[in-house]
Amino acid sequence: MDVRRRITSFDEYKEEYQKSVDNPEGFWEGHAESFVWKKKWDKVLDWNFSGPEVKWFEGGELNITENCLDRHLEERGDKVAILWEPNEPGEAAIKLTYKQLHAKVCEFANVLKAQGIKKGDRVCMYMPMIPELAIACLAAARIGAVHSVVFAGFSSNALSDRVNDAEARVILTSDGNYRGKKNIPVKSVVDQACETSPCVESVIVVQRTNAEVTWVDGRDKWWHDEVAKVDVNCPATAVASEDMLFILYTSGSTGQPKGVVHTTGGYMVYTDYTFRNAFQYNEDDVYWCTADIGWITGHSYIIYGPLLAGATTMMFEGVPTYPDAGRFWEVCEKHKVNQFYTAPTAIRALQAYGTEFVEKYDLSSIKALGSVGEPINEEAWQWYHKNIGKGNCPIVDTYWQTETAGFLISPLAGITPEKPTYATLPMPGIQLAIMDADGNEIEGNGVEGNLCIKYPWPSIIRTTYGNHDRCKEVYFGTYKDMYFTGDGCRRDEDGYYRITGRVDDVINVSGHRMGTAEVENAINEHSNVVESAVVGFPHEIKGQGIYAYVICDEIPADEDTFRTEVLKIITKEIGPIAKPDKIQVVPGLPKTRSGKIMRRILRKVAEGDVSSLGDTSTLLDPSVVDSIVSGALVPIKD
Ligand code: PRX
Repeated sequence: MDVRRRITSFDEYKEEYQKSVDNPEGFWEGHAESFVWKKKWDKVLDWNFSGPEVKWFEGGELNITENCLDRHLEERGDKVAILWEPNEPGEAAIKLTYKQLHAKVCEFANVLKAQGIKKGDRVCMYMPMIPELAIACLAAARIGAVHSVVFAGFSSNALSDRVNDAEARVILTSDGNYRGKKNIPVKSVVDQACETSPCVESVIVVQRTNAEVTWVDGRDKWWHDEVAKVDVNCPATAVASEDMLFILYTSGSTGQPKGVVHTTGGYMVYTDYTFRNAFQYNEDDVYWCTADIGWITGHSYIIYGPLLAGATTMMFEGVPTYPDAGRFWEVCEKHKVNQFYTAPTAIRALQAYGTEFVEKYDLSSIKALGSVGEPINEEAWQWYHKNIGKGNCPIVDTYWQTETAGFLISPLAGITPEKPTYATLPMPGIQLAIMDADGNEIEGNGVEGNLCIKYPWPSIIRTTYGNHDRCKEVYFGTYKDMYFTGDGCRRDEDGYYRITGRVDDVINVSGHRMGTAEVENAINEHSNVVESAVVGFPHEIKGQGIYAYVICDEIPADEDTFRTEVLKIITKEIGPIAKPDKIQVVPGLPKTRSGKIMRRILRKVAEGDVSSLGDTSTLLDPSVVDSIVSGALVPIKD
């Protein structure tokens, strides 16, 4: 059987799923064999979830960039690999063929080598959505270095924390970052981060906006100067299948963001397989995922999955509403996009502008639509289906996580019968379990509970960087021998899965994952704040908004000024994406006698549903609830 053939029918999906469960090792080994390995593996899988320890293709050696690039040169050397669309519609798009991308990756790999970067060293990227970001990730992988991309909207403090945790020796950035009307001075954010990140030896800067930048001689180097000094040939370094490919920081229920570690062999096999099958990519298609490479979606489904599959993958520098709310559709028409993949929050935001922005453009090239990052509500699903898909494009609602690196539950475009708001069925290789509060698996259909996975798939999280215990506790500590997603889930009468949202203290704002503890820690930095509690609440556009309850040492004389100060601190500590929509000063928080905050009550109040607060008799001071409710009823000026 040609394993690079795609699943083509629902019956075939069911057969393939069954095979992947009956014999996971044989199933994935077959897929792994279609890649270039420098040395074949000795064992397909070795695992236990109690460690946890998961090893796929142990003993195998490879380089993922040979599979993303070199492998395609003969057949697809002149095919466009990366199609880059700039922020400004008037600026020319850039098309990099597989040959050109290969050369640029090799060249920049030599730049990294010249900086003394070796296999296993960490390289941090804090960059706009320009081709150099993808080139940099692949260049790091070319020499066996580990990339750690930090979304360029994070603050200097957040960047510095991540750089220090990963002990990155180099930061790659740009002079500025065009985002809609803005030109964001990212280099100065890096300069500030470096003040508290002594591990950074060099900063390599792409010239993008010609903004003026401050320069630290010896440390700072221009990308173009360094590239001019090196050769374009760079043999790919062999790495072990289980060697780290990248670290990507993500938020959890408690403490600082953790560095999710993904390794090489299994990640390669799974991202390629899921990309080809879920989107049903055909050789001449143009695929566009609008995510930022700062998030997992960009890693797996802008860079690796598509390039492994030999696809044309688009990168977009701008924002959906610049110069107007028709930009996505204008770009789809311009580049004849065949698969379009975005987040529900973007769909809802554009929906609010009306269909006149859509109707101006010819979207007939689109064959499949994708959704990711949060549950898609029925209204947004229908709008997307009707106005963008013109009623005849499948919607691939892909459910997955930073930790899973690839789709867990998703329809296969045009193959899986869809149901609006349902992520539908598991990808082959994914053995789901719905668990009840007592830790027992709930069998049968028409049930709801916490979503777990029973068996490893090739791109499962391996560890959290520098702290394996944290990985064990967070993902494998709740249910014995299960990976716990942190999400609630419903399996309906047809066996279809619908994600109901996080069941932990993680909130999902515009598809961005945020730990409530992180936001609280930032708020608590304000000198007048004694304590705070942050919860999510339903938000029309963002999916969830952030609601912060704050106890002050002294009642602020001017609450608006106080709120502005708090927002400033959050922007400094994390970044603007973590700014609360509402901040309410409260006299106390609803705590149990053991001192635990009853967030359930705070969530209800934030939702505006104060009629059913449930049992408050176990609270240390039930009267606190009344004052919170009456305070919440006063409209809050944002
Ligand atoms: O709650 C789920 C939600 O996003 C979380 C993962 O966030 P992150 O690691 O940032 O990765 C986002 C991109 C994969 C999940 O725990 N989520 C993601 N996709 C969906 C979703 N919820 C419902 N439906 C989805 N399609």
